[in-house]
This record gives sequence, structure tokens and C-alpha cells, in this order.
Amino acid sequence: MSKAEIFVTGGAGYIGSHTCVELLEAGYSVTVIDNFSNSSAKSLDRVRKITGKDLRIIEGDIRDEALLNRLLSETAYAGVIHFAGLKAVSESNQVPLKYYDNNVCGSIALLRAMSRNEIKTFIFSSSATVYGEPQFLPVTESHVLAPNNPYGRSKLMIEEFARDLWQSDPSWSIVILRYFNPVGAHKSGLIGEDPRNVPSNLMPYLAQVAVGRLQTLTVHGNDFGTPDGTGIRDFIHVVDLARGHVKALQTLQTKPAMLILNLGTGTGYSVLQLREAFERTSQNPIPYQIGPRRQGDVAVSYADCALAAREIGWKAQYSMQDMCEDTWRWQYNNRSGFE
Ligand code: UD1
Repeated sequence: MSKAEIFVTGGAGYIGSHTCVELLEAGYSVTVIDNFSNSSAKSLDRVRKITGKDLRIIEGDIRDEALLNRLLSETAYAGVIHFAGLKAVSESNQVPLKYYDNNVCGSIALLRAMSRNEIKTFIFSSSATVYGEPQFLPVTESHVLAPNNPYGRSKLMIEEFARDLWQSDPSWSIVILRYFNPVGAHKSGLIGEDPRNVPSNLMPYLAQVAVGRLQTLTVHGNDFGTPDGTGIRDFIHVVDLARGHVKALQTLQTKPAMLILNLGTGTGYSVLQLREAFERTSQNPIPYQIGPRRQGDVAVSYADCALAAREIGWKAQYSMQDMCEDTWRWQYNNRSGFE
């Protein structure tokens, strides 16, 4: 029997590459399309090395609908997992149209090409950022949707397109995954997060201070209403997240559905707790200073993950210790990332 083939947009990126590993290990064949605007093709060489399996790589942009039509007509893909997109919140405030063009126009081209080629199984990489400021905790999927930046609004728009599409034609099968804060790396130490510029996210920043690439962490505010005054987030191991996509896919292959699911651990850690855990794991000092709050940051966010457990049988397995150890192994072995 030939293996089901999955089309993965943005498969060379941080979450995409980890998901390719899990797909290949679960027995799927994989085609990646990536424009490498914020990723390295080397990540996919590493995916081959980890799994001992090959995958097909197309360099291209998802806004190129003619290319998508050609690719999706050539192969009877069992589904599409859609990661391709821009993801820096502050940049999205500066150049919103670039974000809407890449994320929204790219997704429309993809969904149109899927529709034309009768490929109707779709898994979308969304974000907890669609909730905006949490009104209650833990955050459930029915929480009000109020993203406060163009990046978050682009994610919400794509969610709405997907939902409308399913409503217009219930033969679509769709899972929207709302990630909390992905961190960590594959146990092999061969793939991990590799930001092009100075990291804006906490975990890669900590890792780069510990390895000596950066000097000092700036904690963005210690006057939130939390026990130590710093922000609290639901950090989730990227391999757990990747497995969530495989579970979602397996569910859709047996039972068509339209699902919206949080992927998190359900537990929050503060900025200072994470700093301390990472310092302990890396056994390197991580000096810090307190700075002002970062615009748009919320005090506390963590997920209710009961729905994902019920609907796709998924639950995060890895601990904070794993997240720190695996991030550190990746950073230590790849001081300058993939370059
Ligand atoms: C950010 C994005 C979110 C995106 C997510 C995953 C913002 C406002 N939100 O979430 O949309 O889905 O990344 O990529 O950017 N912190 C510091 N010092 C630093 C970096 C971060 O103190 O140098 C703090 C932040 O203030 C926050 C916590 O660490 O309290 C986590 O920050 P970060 O890793 O950037 O994630 P989010 O802001 O939660």
C-alpha cells in the first residue's frame, strides 16, 4: 500500500520541520513547499538525517497560485498542513500589509488551489494570540476572539475563511490548532528554533544569552499582577506540538470534522521562572535587567487543553525540564543555528 502523502507549507520552519519528522516517523510521505524567507533548507537535510527518510522539497511561495495548482494536481495529497506565514508581532505593526499579503493572500491562494483539486483536508497553524487579553483562565476555545495586532488578526481571518469554507461545503475536513508558546527542540539536537535576527521571543533569547551570543536578558516588566510580577505563559514543547498535527490528521482520516483546538500544557510559568530553569539546565549565568512592559503583552495566558484530549486524543507529554534541556542541546551544538 502506498503511503498517504501530505503537503506541508512552511515545512522548513521551526514548527514545520519538527512536524515533518513526526509525519515521516508516523509513515506519511511529505512534500514541503517553502520560500525560505525565514528558514533554512538545512533544516530539511537534518529532518532526513533524523528519520533516515526522504522528503520532497519545492522552493516556492504559496501566493503563487499557478504553482500550487500544478503541484496539487500532480499528486493526490491526503491533506495539507499549513505553516507558511510571517510571525513577528512587532514587525506586523510596522508593515501590516506585508503580513496580510503573505498570510491572508497566501492562505486564500492555497485554499483555492486545494478546492480546485478536490483536496479538502486542511490543518492550520493558528495562535493563542487570536484571544487577545484573556478574560478568564485557563483559556478555552470559546473565549472571545480579540487579537491586538495585525499578525494575530491575519491568523483570525484565515480561521474564519476556513470555517466559512467548511460551512459552504461540509465535505471539507479542517482542524485549526491554536498554539500557546512553542519552545524546545528535537531530542537529536539537530533541529530547533533559529531566528534570523535578535530573538523577540523569550526562550531563544535565553538560549542565546546562555551560549554567549547575547549579553543580558531584558525582562519586559515586573509589575504585572502575578506572584513575581513578570508575565506568565503556557510554554509547550515543539515535539508535543508537532505530534498534535499528526493526531489531528489521523483523526480527520477516520472521522471528517471541523475542529478548533488549543495546544498547550495547561500550566503557566513566569518569565523569571523560565530564566531560572534555563540557567540551571545550561549551567551558564543568564544575567537580567528589568525593563518596561512590551506593548501588547498580557499578564497571564495558559490553555485549557481538554478539547484536544477529547477530540484527537492528544496531550502534551514533555516537562519544562525537557523544554530547557532540548533547547539547550540544540543551541549548544548549533551556536549560530543552521549557518
Ligand atoms: C509571542 C507573540 C505571539 C506569538 C508567540 C509565539 C507577542 C506580543 N506575542 O507571544 O503572538 O504567537 O510569541 O511566537 O509578541 N519576554 C521578556 N524578554 C524578552 C522576550 C520576552 O521578558 O526578551 C517576556 C514577554 O514579555 C512575555 C514572555 O516573555 O511575558 C513571553 O514572550 P514571547 O516569548 O515573546 O511570547 P508571547 O509574547 O507570549
